[in-house]
Amino acid sequence: LISQEVEQMLLEFQLQEEDLQVLMCRMQTEMERGLHLETNEEASVKMLPTYVRSTPDGSEVGDFLALDLGGTNFRVMLVKVGEDLDGQWKVETKHKMYSIPEDAMTGTAEMLFDYIAECISDYLDQQNMKHKKLPLGFTFSFPVRHEDIDKGILLNWTKGFKASGAEGNNVVGLLRDAIKRRGDFEMDVVAMVNDTVATMISCYYEDHRCEVGMIVGTGCNACYMEEMCNVELVEGEEGRMCVNTEWGAFGDTGELEDFRLEYDRVVDEASVNPGQQLYEKMIGGKYMGELVRLVLMKMVNEDILFGGETSEKLKNRWTFETQFVSQIEGDSSDFKQTSNILRTLGVQPTMSDCYTVRLACESVSTRAALVCGAGLAAVLNRIRQNRREELLRITVGVDGSVYKLHPCFKDKFHATVHKMTPNCDITFIQSNEGSGRGAALISAVAYKMASLIG
Ligand code: BG6
Ligand code: GLC
Repeated sequence: LISQEVEQMLLEFQLQEEDLQVLMCRMQTEMERGLHLETNEEASVKMLPTYVRSTPDGSEVGDFLALDLGGTNFRVMLVKVGEDLDGQWKVETKHKMYSIPEDAMTGTAEMLFDYIAECISDYLDQQNMKHKKLPLGFTFSFPVRHEDIDKGILLNWTKGFKASGAEGNNVVGLLRDAIKRRGDFEMDVVAMVNDTVATMISCYYEDHRCEVGMIVGTGCNACYMEEMCNVELVEGEEGRMCVNTEWGAFGDTGELEDFRLEYDRVVDEASVNPGQQLYEKMIGGKYMGELVRLVLMKMVNEDILFGGETSEKLKNRWTFETQFVSQIEGDSSDFKQTSNILRTLGVQPTMSDCYTVRLACESVSTRAALVCGAGLAAVLNRIRQNRREELLRITVGVDGSVYKLHPCFKDKFHATVHKMTPNCDITFIQSNEGSGRGAALISAVAYKMASLIG
């Protein structure tokens, strides 16, 4: 059913075990460089200290507000942190989703943060809580260089955000200013965390072996507990600190050049941050659909798909959504869904076209699962070496639409990680409402600390 030309064209997406080993070693090198003071500047993987430490000593119970900015949706949540009768953590959430308008994403930082404050205000009205000054935990899923748990500057936007005047500035300050400008409610911003960190912490409360957090969604990133003595950017040697790897930027100093294909280059050039987040652009949901579209366009040009004809729609960038990749790969053998999707994109596919499109989707998503697996293997093998353990038993908390919704990503990813991490016994758990719960739990600890000091 499938022509040799199609097979030939998709061959370059395949990765051998040796390739994955190379990727893993290069990732480990960049992680090491990121941790050292002298090499941090030039390392592509920034290894950002989060000021979330291994030894929280108690926390507050009560109501917290959590914000979640940086995934598909912006969310405002009320989180009740408490203990049940057995002394187990109890966390309840009530959230509302808001979509971020394009002009807020790409306008000025003031516009973006004013919009966020407006959403909080709307949420508080709805919950009848405007009068309360709640402690707030902010999940902000971008690279931040922290000075403390509630202070850090945005290094650069990722995932299509572009609001001017934010990079280089203290993000918590931008939020506090916007709340002040509105003046109709007060908040006590106590912690800012990355989504990987919030995910890890939310899973930690279910499983104390959870010391790694990972997101495969719009973007892709991971964090893990590193020995303080290796975190040169922060003083102190005792215990561990969570490090946000920001591994999405792996490749930005050339480490992926022998793996990137012409499609990767086109996606990168068409993005708002060319040259940045090159590893993320091979994996994340923001880019996966567009990669597939570019493969399909090449097939059309070579006359091996859709009878050599395309539609106006399919010619346009970003029209092939990443959720189509999941839907097509999850389709049954009658290709009903696949042909529906392709028809909405303006083409009239034959059965053989549908099959070809599915193969293109599989090629792109399988490569994503494998390179992502090599990245996580780098982190896990590092942790095992750090701890000099014969067998590392560890849990990884995961979130994100690609991981959760794609029908095969997870399995291929898990298989790759297992194969590349001998002597590791790994459990994966999916986080639920992870960002809200995680941010609230970290805030609960930070709040307690602040009240002890203050
Ligand atoms: C969500 C988390 O569930 O997953 C967010 O609450 C996170 O904090 C997101 O950013 C990542 O997935 P996606 O697919 O929305 O980018
Ligand atoms: C991008 C962000 C990173 C975030 C990830 C997943 O890579 O830079 O901070 O964790 O997306 O949302």
